[in-house]
Amino acid sequence: MKYSRILGTGSYLPARVMTNADLEAVVDTSDSWIRERTGIEKRHLVSEGECCCDLAEQAARRALEAAGITASDLDLILVATTTPDQFFPSTATLLQRRLDVHGCPAFDLQAVCAGFVYAMDVADKFIRTGAAKRALVVGAETFSRILDWNDRTTCVLFGDGAGAVVLEAADEPGILSTHLHADGAYKDLLQVPGGIGNGHPDARFVQMKGNEVFRIAVTTLGRIVEETLEAAGLTKSDIDWLIPHQANIRIIQATARKLDLPMERVVVTVAEHGNTSSASIPLALDQAVRDGRIRRGETLLMEAFGGGFTWGSVLVRY
Ligand code: COA
Repeated sequence: MKYSRILGTGSYLPARVMTNADLEAVVDTSDSWIRERTGIEKRHLVSEGECCCDLAEQAARRALEAAGITASDLDLILVATTTPDQFFPSTATLLQRRLDVHGCPAFDLQAVCAGFVYAMDVADKFIRTGAAKRALVVGAETFSRILDWNDRTTCVLFGDGAGAVVLEAADEPGILSTHLHADGAYKDLLQVPGGIGNGHPDARFVQMKGNEVFRIAVTTLGRIVEETLEAAGLTKSDIDWLIPHQANIRIIQATARKLDLPMERVVVTVAEHGNTSSASIPLALDQAVRDGRIRRGETLLMEAFGGGFTWGSVLVRY
């Protein structure tokens, strides 16, 4: 078996919703500013006591159910997250415990908003080399916990949620190609500076130079789309669906224009979810699979850009 293919998808959003109007009571902002600049209308946020693994577990259970397998059938568990519940153990092993799975490798992968794309690449390589047959790949985030709720330039942008995919070994693709990149030179444009032993123990909130990130994201995503098509020997018209990381509707529209793709062929959830970082692509994928837009045999292009910077794409025959 040379390939991996998507067997099932799942997602979960916490029940609590914060609209732009709700945010007007928190910071000096307005519904119209947020809508015009980002396309965001509302976002889901975890409640007190609700954690990243709770979101991951719900998404994972739904993906397993859709895949028609049980957790004991898994031989790899990956969780892409920037907001793990603990320093350690990893959220992946916390999830493994919840799912009552024992023995298979489980680990977290941190590539911020490109985390899901990175995790899909890794899971695909495990499967293609024969190291795993069935992998659970989750993107789960509680970004609301690393936001400064007094900083209007960041707190209006993000939301919480989780999405998951079950991959299995197959004779036919499946995942056609994956493309990953990073450039640490851009650290200062988008970061949470706090960490262990770096002199910023209290700096645990997102800091971002938004307009510089915007500019670089647009050009970088344009390049990754070209790279992906070229590597697969496909043309723009071969792409049935673009499933982009959901950071900003204007960034998404720019990538769709690059592909000559009408917005009807782009899965957009940013209005309802905000930017859920590594969860945004699997959330969007699951939504479009469940509402019947995405059908078996169609070609999907997923792409993401995030802190680091990190960026990448996954090309899939669904
Ligand atoms: N409400 C109202 N006004 C706000 C605001 C808010 N929430 N946030 C910023 N502003 C103000 C700024 O203070 C600034 O005011 P000034 O002109 O008086 O100084 C003005 O709006 C314009 O700010 P600017 O940052 O230039 O706006 P922008 O058009 O670049 O939009 C972002 C800001 C953040 C929406 C946009 O840059 C963006 O989406 N960047 C990419 C972010 C991203 O995707 N990050 C994650 C990558 S994975």
